[in-house]
Amino acid sequence: MLLSGRGSNFQAIAEARLPIEIVAVISNRPQAAGLDYARARDLPAFAFDHTEHPDREAFDALLAEEVERHRPDLVLLAGYMRILSPAFITRFEGRLMNIHPSLLPMFPGLNTHERALAEGVKIHGCTVHFVTANLDHGPIVIQAAVPVRADDTPGALSARVLAQEHCIYPQAVRWFAEGRLEINHGRVNLRGDSTSQSVLSTGM
Ligand code: GRF
Repeated sequence: MLLSGRGSNFQAIAEARLPIEIVAVISNRPQAAGLDYARARDLPAFAFDHTEHPDREAFDALLAEEVERHRPDLVLLAGYMRILSPAFITRFEGRLMNIHPSLLPMFPGLNTHERALAEGVKIHGCTVHFVTANLDHGPIVIQAAVPVRADDTPGALSARVLAQEHCIYPQAVRWFAEGRLEINHGRVNLRGDSTSQSVLSTGM
């Protein structure tokens, strides 16, 4: 689990009674609240301060070694707020997942809620995807949509989306743990899915 801040997605996964073991929680920011939560639950928590390694490639090489040391089957980005170098992504491709607060491919990058409001979209949401070198564009595992209300603020919209993030990220991890995710030509197939479970919509 790689994170940089609050760690609410990490908490949702940790509390979802999934058939997984969280082998390490690593933050590039030593003050991340997610690390405190991990320690409170006796999960292995590590701060790996990027400001001590100004060279991104060098930092990511060390980070990759640290991650490998724990032998994870899956590496989760849960609010990890640093762009990963291509070498890191290649090394973990196919077992590196991210959650992004928009309905990709709309609104990659930052400030997604502000941008959704500025565009006047009527539906917004979140996406769990495998990470590729193309920022916020990897194969999509699951998405959840929420309505955008006429009087929405970025904060209100963000809270509505975040509640859905906490549903879909644990679900995606469960599917991975059950061996049900298959990446084929850039698309994710969910084995044994006849009902298109990989879309959630709420309050529509
Ligand atoms: C979430 O909105 C997630 O989609 C984005 O960063 C935020 C992290 O929040 N990648 P948290 O640290 O999980 O609470």
